[in-house]
Amino acid sequence: MNQQHSDHLLHLLHAHQRQHHFISDQAMIDIASRLKLPRAQVEAVTEFYSFFSRKPRGRFDILFSNCTSCGDAVLMQELCDRLGIKAGETRHDGVVSITDTSCIGMCDHGVSALINDRPLHSIDSNKISQIAALVEAEKPLDAWPTEWFEIDNHIQRTDLLLSTPFEAGSALKVMRDESIDETLEKIRYSDLRGRGGAGFSTAQKWKFCRETEEETRYVICNADEGEPGTFKDRLLLTSHANTVFEGMAVCARIINAKQGYIYLRAEYRYLLDSLEATLAARRKDGLLGNAILGIEGFDFDIAIVVGAGAYICGEESALIESLEEKCGNPRIRPPFPVISGYLGKPTVVNNVETLAAAAGIVLHGERWFRGAGTWQSRGTKILSISGDCCKAGIYEYPFGVTINDILNDCGAERTQAVQIGGPSGTLIDASHFDHCIAFEDLATGGSFMIFDDSRDLLQVIRNFTHFFAHESCGFCTPCRVGTTLMKNGMDKVCSGHGTAHDLDELKSTAALVSRRSHCGLGITAPNPIRDGLKNFPELFEQRLLHQKMEPEFNLDASLEEARQLTQRDDAEAHL
Ligand SMILES: Cc1cc2nc3c(=O)[nH]c(=O)nc-3n(C[C@H](O)[C@H](O)[C@H](O)COP(=O)(O)O)c2cc1C
Ligand code: SF4
Repeated sequence: MNQQHSDHLLHLLHAHQRQHHFISDQAMIDIASRLKLPRAQVEAVTEFYSFFSRKPRGRFDILFSNCTSCGDAVLMQELCDRLGIKAGETRHDGVVSITDTSCIGMCDHGVSALINDRPLHSIDSNKISQIAALVEAEKPLDAWPTEWFEIDNHIQRTDLLLSTPFEAGSALKVMRDESIDETLEKIRYSDLRGRGGAGFSTAQKWKFCRETEEETRYVICNADEGEPGTFKDRLLLTSHANTVFEGMAVCARIINAKQGYIYLRAEYRYLLDSLEATLAARRKDGLLGNAILGIEGFDFDIAIVVGAGAYICGEESALIESLEEKCGNPRIRPPFPVISGYLGKPTVVNNVETLAAAAGIVLHGERWFRGAGTWQSRGTKILSISGDCCKAGIYEYPFGVTINDILNDCGAERTQAVQIGGPSGTLIDASHFDHCIAFEDLATGGSFMIFDDSRDLLQVIRNFTHFFAHESCGFCTPCRVGTTLMKNGMDKVCSGHGTAHDLDELKSTAALVSRRSHCGLGITAPNPIRDGLKNFPELFEQRLLHQKMEPEFNLDASLEEARQLTQRDDAEAHL
């Protein structure tokens, strides 16, 4: 078993990118030959992931979040202006590059950016000028104010999972005294459903995997947490890593997996050292490795693979492709990962929170868990609350809590809309605030973004359409083309040039993209537009031009250069 997994293609590319600030042709040839992979594969992977670059990036490589909660385009532009650089470019002296990036999971910390992979938060105009001065002076990051990089998890409300202490090995010790079927039965009776979004029964998933004929099986912890507005896995990986690892070990014992992986999003790379230290301590305590807790045949270890900036790799089959050192293109399903997953072997993929909950259930019993929540959604849900409220942060609630109660707790006022479950989730208006968080009502993987009445909601929806167009992996045409068409449509509406015809186009494109796309990204990408048109039609109406149609492309204006070259401006030279 290769715990460090230092030879993984993504890790070699990360190392090269960090050292040389780009991936050269020669580097790709060398890495391909070292890993015995086709060069075309290494090249495709380099181009697929946003953390790798074929052109040199700056020695200070700044990735500025463009999320509605932890990003700010105006502040990013201010930094660009101060450093004399355009967004997306590297300064000619190679000192700095600034690029915008999708949500970096810092929504409880105000405007944030990654600087050489380290998250820097609470950015305002004052801090922008200080950052610019430090960059110009080429001060190493370790000499920057340490508090700029300190991350508080802002835990505002705890319940079952976050308030019950957990000792490493305690669930495994309980499990040692039960049969595997008894433990699986406990998980089944608890009614635990996946916390990553889809809500599939965890016991069913584990059972399907366990019942396959193959001998080799894998368990994967999905720590890609890329949905804008979500940062609850960041907390679990920071403060409850042992519970998560224990959940993986419980799963491994049930499905008889010898190897597990954590797929950690690149934006959380700064958690790597502490996660490795926790894994090392578990190995030392006999909670990983061979004959765990002295149980003959219970051999299991965990390796961490760091992603490279692709939201689609949160989708479980794309994640598996990425683990297999390929581009993160979702697979055709069936077969599902439990039948044919990592390296074609049966694989369980679970969210971080699901695995933590499973460990708690084994330790405290199924009643502890199913006593909370609703009859279709047992237990609690950890929410990442951000946006227009006084107390952004982590809130753990029993399922069934209403939106109104949450808004009261976090000090939200004059709330215009809430985006539940991130851009791929549901955008609701005040008439839905008596609804509740539950799989049968408003489901969420954890994102809860609040927008008060000062926000331009159309700009929020536009931001989400940009997110999907950027993150579409390009594998299938409806999503690749459709997300760009929706982005262009929202750009036009927001700029005040939209017409009734454009809204009709947006509706039909949205319907086509969600019906014809290959994976969950495309299926849910139209949600912000659809919910916006359904719940906030007046906002669109107010912004429309009162004419039937205005073309998206101004052909006459585009001929201006030709007119100048030919020195003509007569009527014949215009359309
Ligand atoms: C585009 C896309 C992104 C996703 N991102 C994540 C993610 O970051 N974390 C996660 O646990 N699940 C994510 N999922 C859901 C996973 O595909 C999968 O259902 C989940 O990891 C299963 O774990 P669970 O049963 O514990 O929820 C995503 C799905 C899609 C379509
Ligand atoms: S729906 Fe989008 S993200 Fe999914 S496979 Fe197609 S192009 Fe890729």
